[in-house]
Amino acid sequence: MPPDTAFTRMFGCRYPLQLAGMGGFPSPELAVAVSAAGGLGMLSGALQPRDLERQLDAVPPEVPVGVSFLMPFLDVGAAEDAAGRCALVEFFWDEPSPQLVDLVHAGGARCSWQVGSLDEALAAVDAGCDLVVAQGVEAGGHVRGTTPALELVAAVCDAIDVPVVAAGGFGDAKRIASALGLGSAAVRVGTRFLAATESAAHPDYIDRLVGANADDTVLTTAFGIGWPDAPHRLLRSCLEAAEALGPTHAWTPDWPAADYVGDVEARPLYAGMSVDFVTKRQSAAEIVAELMTES
Ligand SMILES: Cc1cc2nc3c(=O)[nH]c(=O)nc-3n(C[C@H](O)[C@H](O)[C@H](O)COP(=O)(O)O)c2cc1C
Repeated sequence: MPPDTAFTRMFGCRYPLQLAGMGGFPSPELAVAVSAAGGLGMLSGALQPRDLERQLDAVPPEVPVGVSFLMPFLDVGAAEDAAGRCALVEFFWDEPSPQLVDLVHAGGARCSWQVGSLDEALAAVDAGCDLVVAQGVEAGGHVRGTTPALELVAAVCDAIDVPVVAAGGFGDAKRIASALGLGSAAVRVGTRFLAATESAAHPDYIDRLVGANADDTVLTTAFGIGWPDAPHRLLRSCLEAAEALGPTHAWTPDWPAADYVGDVEARPLYAGMSVDFVTKRQSAAEIVAELMTES
C-alpha cells in the first residue's frame, strides 16, 4: 500500500512524490505524466506568462498539477493566474512573503516555499505556507542552503507542524523511505525526471546524466548572468567545457532544452547527487514506480 500522508491527502494523489519545478522551459508532458503515474506534476512558472498559459491549457482539468515560480524572475500576475487554475503554487529563493501566500490563497490554491535552512522554513510557516519544501545541498539546479537533505528534513520536521517535502539527492526508493521515515509528507525529485522520455531536456544532456555519478557534480556560481551569486549544482564537465571557450562565453543559467542548437556541453547541465541513479532514459511512469518501490 502506498503511504497515506498529508501530501497525498492534500492533492489527492496516490504517491507522496512531487516532480521538482524545473525552470526555464515548458514541459507540460512531463508534469502530466508524473501526475498520471500517481505523483504531483509541476509546471515551471519561470517563463513568459503566455508560455505558462499554454502549459496550463495543455493540462487536462482533472489532472492536479502545481506551478513553481523563481522569485528573481517572478511575474506576480502569472502567479495570480496560476493560483486560480491549479492545486499548488510554489516559490523558491528570497524571503517567504506573506503577501504572495495571501495572493495564492485568494486564488484558491495551496502555497509552498522551497527553503534551504531551518530559519527559512520557520519564516515560510510564519508567512502562512501550507507546505514547506526542505532542500538539501545535494540538490540539482539552484541550491539554497548548505545542509544535507536528511539532516535538514529531520530538523524541519521536528520544528514545524505544516507538511514537509524533502528535496535534494533523492534518486532511489531507499533514500526516499528514509525521508518519509523522518516524518516528511512527500519527496521531491528533479534530476531523475530530467531523463524521462517526456522530459524537455536535450538528448545530449540526458546522455551526460546517464554517464555521470554524484562525484561528477559540483556547486558553483559560474552560470550567473541574470542571477548572480546563486549557487547551483551541475556536471563538472560543462563547467570545464565553458571555461575552455574563453572569456567571451555567455554564462547564462538556461539549461539546454531539446530544441537547443549549439554547444550543449558548455551549457549548464544541472544535476543533483541523485544522478547516481540515472542509468537510462525511461518513461516517467517507470521512474515513479521505481522510486516508490523499495526492493
Ligand atoms: C534542471 C533543474 C532545474 C531546476 N529549476 C528549478 C526551478 O525552476 N524552481 C525550483 O523551485 N527548483 C528548481 N530546481 C531544484 C529542484 O526544485 C529540486 O530542489 C532539485 O531538483 C532536487 O534535487 P534532485 O535534482 O537531486 O532531485 C531545479 C533543478 C534542476 C535539476
